[in-house]
Amino acid sequence: MPADRLAGIELSLIRQINALATPLSTNLGIGEPNLEPDETLRALARRAATTSWHYSANAGSLSLRKKLCANTSFDPATECCVTAGTQEALFAIFQAHVNPGDEVLVPNPGFSSYATVAAICGATPVPYDLEPPAWTLDASRIPFTPKTKLIVVNSPSNPLGAVLPAETLKEIARLADERRALVVSDEIYREIWYDSAPASMTGLSPNVIVVNGMSKSHGMTGLRLGWIQARSEILKPVVTAHQYIATCASVFSQALTEMIFDAAEWNASWLDGVRQQFRAQRDAALYSIRHELEAEIGSPAGAFYAFVPVPACDTLAFAKSLATDAAVLVIPGVAFGSAGEGFIRISYAASVEQIAMGIERVGRWLRTNGR
Ligand SMILES: Cc1ncc(COP(=O)(O)O)c(C=O)c1O
Repeated sequence: MPADRLAGIELSLIRQINALATPLSTNLGIGEPNLEPDETLRALARRAATTSWHYSANAGSLSLRKKLCANTSFDPATECCVTAGTQEALFAIFQAHVNPGDEVLVPNPGFSSYATVAAICGATPVPYDLEPPAWTLDASRIPFTPKTKLIVVNSPSNPLGAVLPAETLKEIARLADERRALVVSDEIYREIWYDSAPASMTGLSPNVIVVNGMSKSHGMTGLRLGWIQARSEILKPVVTAHQYIATCASVFSQALTEMIFDAAEWNASWLDGVRQQFRAQRDAALYSIRHELEAEIGSPAGAFYAFVPVPACDTLAFAKSLATDAAVLVIPGVAFGSAGEGFIRISYAASVEQIAMGIERVGRWLRTNGR
């Protein structure tokens, strides 16, 4: 019997759908960028492998923290912690600050980890709804209560690709301050945008905790490198939790990340290239969604996901049928909360050929099955 804290908690629906993949599947379910390191990045990685293999400070090497805090008011010595990916960052923050019985506000639809990590702490995840079709947020309708300990904000959003305007972010920070709640701003997709750079919550209130990482911007998902920035009183217990979870982030990944920031010119052009690639993939996805699925959705402003309404009542069963009968993987919207029912998440982190083929398969399945 697993411990009570894991009762009812299973591998995420995303993992369950991806487990249905076969070599013939077109995978539009994937949550990681289709980016491969270029020669410069490979050379930096080779060089990073020759640096120290020993533990770093728990919070990460100070030289990396200094780079992460450049141009912010965070003190690298006490207000930044490098983690084994953003996922570990979230876990450490929740372990440090969330008590059984607390309420944690999570976006609906939103990344399922937030609610799960809250539940592992014995807290109650309380969804706040984003409104289709543009997935806007009316901050005054966020259901804060006296039990609210923390609100998670994710812009650009997984699974929506939506970006929240700076005004909304300010309003969330103001309301959270009024309610003495912490804000966790998950900014992991912040470098992946199409029209203008998304606003950050950095500095909007002393109670804002910002998390970010290298997974999505640099295709470094397996290297597990993330970070947290927060006021020192907030960060201190988080570093304690992080010490008992991971000791420190991989020193190889830390060294590589530092080298990437040092290669500022290369990095700027890499990020431009990433945005260009995803823009082309987004446009291919939008074209196929319009023509094959006859669905109109607004252009995602960030990340690499399209959240598409489908005429199927149970989208979990639908996604499973697509995986087994049509050899295409998409994620049922319900994996992201109740407000996701009736939608599927199409990840366009795939080649334009795969995107066209995958969405065509979804369309064919719908037509064949009379939808
Ligand atoms: C919104 C969001 N936050 C956090 C993560 C975790 O990223 P990592 O742990 O690789 O930094 C993901 C990964 O899919 C994500 O989509």
